[in-house]
Amino acid sequence: MAGKIPQHFIDELLARVDIVDVIDARVSLKKSGSNHMACCPFHNEKTPSFSVSQPKQFFHCFGCGASGSAIGFLMDYENLHFVDAVEMLADSIGMSVPRDEQAARRHDDSKPLYAVMDDVSSLYRRALRESPEAIDYLKRRGLDGDIAKRFGIGWTPTERDALQRHFPSSIDALVKCGMLTTGSDGTRAPYARFRERVMFPIRDRRGRTIGFGGRVLNDSEPKYLNSPETPIFHKGSEVYGLYEARRAAQEANFVIVVEGYMDVVALAQAGIDNAVATLGTAANRQHSEMLFRTVPNIVFCFDGDRAGKQAAWRALQATLTLLEDGRDAHFLFLPDGEDPDSYVKEHGKAGFDALLNTRIPIVDQLYAHLANDVDMNSVGGKAQLAERAKPLVNAIPRGVYKQLALQRLESLIGLSMGSARAGAPARPATRTADGGGGLTPMSRAVLLVLQFPAVVASQPAEAYEFDESLAGASVLMKLVGYCEAEPGMTTARLLERFRGTADERAVNNLAQRRWWPDGRELDSDTAEEEFAHCMSRLAEQSRPDPSAGVEAQARTGLLAVKRRR
Ligand code: UTP
Ligand code: MN
Repeated sequence: MAGKIPQHFIDELLARVDIVDVIDARVSLKKSGSNHMACCPFHNEKTPSFSVSQPKQFFHCFGCGASGSAIGFLMDYENLHFVDAVEMLADSIGMSVPRDEQAARRHDDSKPLYAVMDDVSSLYRRALRESPEAIDYLKRRGLDGDIAKRFGIGWTPTERDALQRHFPSSIDALVKCGMLTTGSDGTRAPYARFRERVMFPIRDRRGRTIGFGGRVLNDSEPKYLNSPETPIFHKGSEVYGLYEARRAAQEANFVIVVEGYMDVVALAQAGIDNAVATLGTAANRQHSEMLFRTVPNIVFCFDGDRAGKQAAWRALQATLTLLEDGRDAHFLFLPDGEDPDSYVKEHGKAGFDALLNTRIPIVDQLYAHLANDVDMNSVGGKAQLAERAKPLVNAIPRGVYKQLALQRLESLIGLSMGSARAGAPARPATRTADGGGGLTPMSRAVLLVLQFPAVVASQPAEAYEFDESLAGASVLMKLVGYCEAEPGMTTARLLERFRGTADERAVNNLAQRRWWPDGRELDSDTAEEEFAHCMSRLAEQSRPDPSAGVEAQARTGLLAVKRRR
């Protein structure tokens, strides 16, 4: 999607807006030295550690590590996808987002669908008020009017052709949205998919209704009916209740993932507002990705039965690969035969909070599952465990969790698997007194260019003749190229060029990393000196090692180094 908006537009947009205005409109900022400060909107705090730099057009929280451009801020704060955030930002200064033809058509096609879904949702809410039967059902399930309102819960009008009657000019859109159906072979006259059901609107991050789940009042089948896949609803990547739960989840710093609509709503009724549900599908990678974009901690809640354990295992595998430092996931199992709805009704908020304290860290759950049916007292069993664990541990991104998972494996099987080597920040930060402590010269150079793009122009052309095969060389080359092409380059604009690329996370980390360990600000003159120093270190690293053979020298790619302009 990101590729559909041309980079030059993103660049122009970021050059025309001021991040200070964008953020100040939402979080009131106070000027402090060269920065603007506030209490961070992304985590709970009493003293401000959220800082916005006007020259860099970049925000960064020293407390929780949130950072980015004005676009990134809107994505995080308003919970928007990239394209939506770009649109909102462009709107705010009267620019219109160019799109290629296909994307423009898709955009125009979807508009009436969102509109009709909103209209249908209002109709359902009105119908609920007129249905004593449905109101009674919700009351019996312990829900009050406030909660029904918060979640926009409704009821299908009784007349079979209510949708056609209320929205006669939107029949096509209603069919496209799956609210009317023409039968499995598409030949019947359009009729309502949902009848005599309590309706739960499913909303996207912007609060737009994109689908529904509908429950029968009795025990007829199917108990729940969901919207089909439509141009605006993809159930494999949506969760129910995220729009409603987002703020509470950010405040609590974790989100609870449950299985059912009623679980989400019943938890909210009990005062637990940070729950969402997958839509009748197992929690997958897309779900976890989306949730991690909102909060760093996910608690997956499952039945304690066999099916629940299996579902937990799938969620665990989907989440392992996303487990970067700063994120965390836990598993919570309910007593057999209970779901969060029944549990919270019986035990109240306090009971559910107590249950939350029994949640199992993801790495523990990983080994609990793997060791489940192997004999850990036998050598064979241990070997089996190691065999099973290997691909899973490998799937964890480098960092604390990988380290932890390896250490755990070692202690389980009583053998060294080389955890000291495989974990990430294993190298102690020895240069603590220096700037950029713990970073390689290449990373330091990248950091400096990101934070002070002007340093690039301060160096002679020869400074950039370094060994292309050094780790990170390609990123530095790109950065140098970008800065040379655009004299007014800012941190934010550089970062946006890496959005969606393999290097995105790495450059974001370096863009917000402090240079001095004591938190002092680096000034631009010092940045220039330090950059010159880094570049000469890189030149040293690029010189052929006299002890290495000709072949090895050739392989390093040294001979191929040319500065590309
Ligand atoms: P459950 O059967 O656990 O329902 O399905 P529940 O949440 O406990 O519902 P209540 O308490 O009886 O009202 C969990 C989820 O699985 C999907 C729905 O998303 C539901 O919320 N599901 C279930 C369906 O899509 N269709 C069904 O027929 C049943
Ligand atoms: Mn239930």
